[in-house]
Amino acid sequence: MRKTARELASEMKEISFSEFIAANPHLVGFESSLKMIPMSIHELVTNSLDACEAAGILPEIWVDLKAIDEKGRLKRYRLTVRDNGPGIPPKNVPPVFGKLLYGSKFGARKQSRGQQGIGVSAVVLISQIKTGEHTIVKSSTDGRTAHVYELTMDVNRNAARIHRTYKEKAGGWRGVEARVVLEAQFTARIREYLELTAAINPHLALHYDGVDEKDRLEVERRTDALPPKPVETKPHPLGIDYDLLSKMAARTGHKRLYDFLKGEFDRMRPETARKVIQSCHFDVDKHPSSLSRQEVLELVEAMRNVEVPPPSPECLSPVGEEVLVKGVIGRLRPEFIEAVTRKPCAMRGQPFLVEAIIAYGCEADIGGSPDPVTGVSIHRFVNRVPLLFSESSDVIIKAARDAGLGRYEVTPESRSHLFVHIAGVNIPYTSESKEAIKPVDEYYDEVKLAIQECGRKVSKRIRQARKAEESFMKGRKRALIHSLLLREINRFAGKKVADEAYAEAFGFEGLLEEVVAKFGLDVLRLRRSSKSVEEVEDAATAA
Ligand SMILES: Nc1ncnc2c1ncn2[C@@H]1O[C@H](COP(=O)(O)OP(=O)(O)OP(=O)(O)O)[C@@H](O)[C@H]1O
Ligand SMILES: [Mg+2]
Repeated sequence: MRKTARELASEMKEISFSEFIAANPHLVGFESSLKMIPMSIHELVTNSLDACEAAGILPEIWVDLKAIDEKGRLKRYRLTVRDNGPGIPPKNVPPVFGKLLYGSKFGARKQSRGQQGIGVSAVVLISQIKTGEHTIVKSSTDGRTAHVYELTMDVNRNAARIHRTYKEKAGGWRGVEARVVLEAQFTARIREYLELTAAINPHLALHYDGVDEKDRLEVERRTDALPPKPVETKPHPLGIDYDLLSKMAARTGHKRLYDFLKGEFDRMRPETARKVIQSCHFDVDKHPSSLSRQEVLELVEAMRNVEVPPPSPECLSPVGEEVLVKGVIGRLRPEFIEAVTRKPCAMRGQPFLVEAIIAYGCEADIGGSPDPVTGVSIHRFVNRVPLLFSESSDVIIKAARDAGLGRYEVTPESRSHLFVHIAGVNIPYTSESKEAIKPVDEYYDEVKLAIQECGRKVSKRIRQARKAEESFMKGRKRALIHSLLLREINRFAGKKVADEAYAEAFGFEGLLEEVVAKFGLDVLRLRRSSKSVEEVEDAATAA
């Protein structure tokens, strides 16, 4: 029964990353038939938005979804997503769609929706695993020719397998079109995802042609201004580690350690660079490439401990309250809204920023159900992408539940909606599917503070409204008493005797009884014996 090391070793084999993902599609968000379509749309649409913004093109995206045949509980759907972006050069199309971990955004120190080079090839993979179908990709970079590829992924090689390729006329169209077949269950979350995407991306024109006539969505572009392009920043001292620093030191063009530190790191002022070098007892003129392993480690330690401002925020692109109000919050018809934008922060040198909005006392709804713990509808966004799944493990939900919303009167009865947007670089997602953010301390604290700050603004607003209401009521009562006194005086002077019509004219009729009780004025008796103003006036005229 016992096996030798050699026998055990004979069972060992290397597997490719795509084999691993093919065996574990839940790691990239494809564990449920209900998520197949929203997740695939999400991967394709986020790529289109990223590409358009990077190329400085106002995005227009067409999403087409059709059921093509039925198989038990699940149906097959053909999903086509087309954009007007820069297109992908023909030689890059196969790896983009057929190779996992291939992309242009990995390690970039600026905000983007994609970050790891997995998204779209995971869609190709899930399509072929479940349906055996080829994905069809069209790409045109010049508006004249579209290169068409029918492909799948060769999971053993983690590379595209091209089944057919040909060219066709592009007829002026530039961009990418991808068509996949998915085995899935239809869900209302598809529309929800698209509506929220359009809401938070006002520069997007979106056309959705769904499974039937009712399943359509046309969203016009609300602004011709692209969001400010996030600028790639230099590495921040707090985010540095041995590997990054030794690589940078080896390939820098600077000849002096001082110039290297000052020139190649974010927020590294001359005095800070000097302080770092001094704390390591290095020579400022030391050549960076001559640093030994031990010296690099010392430098890392010194850089992590020196006081530097948080990372530069130019690599971030917050959305701002107005975009959300125009895009979605307006539809909720809230009593009022309060918004908070926190200052940029950093998690291990990676900048991020939190925006929170509370729409209080909403008359209408926009789908989705309230959070079962807070009773408030919570809408999560990251880098202008709505998050729809894995609520329970997400930092926004956790922070919102711990923020004590009830203390700020943001209760289930208040019919409130909370919107939180996180703009960040290298977001610490819970998994490669990017459905939720890990509750790392820095994110958790900032989100909670943003929600609490927003909550405080809400309760202040409620207090102010109450105060205004109270002083209005006080004013009403005072005016009533004055008017009643005036009436009394008039009556005893033998002039006009007014009745309810008099009080009604002042809007006090509901308060008459209260005034009797509180101020002892026998208004009711007076009322009973009184005549109408007209009658009294007529009698006076007759006399
Ligand atoms: N519609 C498109 N237009 C232009 N380039 C695209 C398009 N779709 C994908 N790309 C290119 O293909 C790359 C790979 O896309 P993929 O979705 O696999 O990864 P990603 O977007 O970089 O990261 P993530 O895995 O987080 O989605 C992108 O980085 C981008 O360079
Ligand atoms: Mg992507």
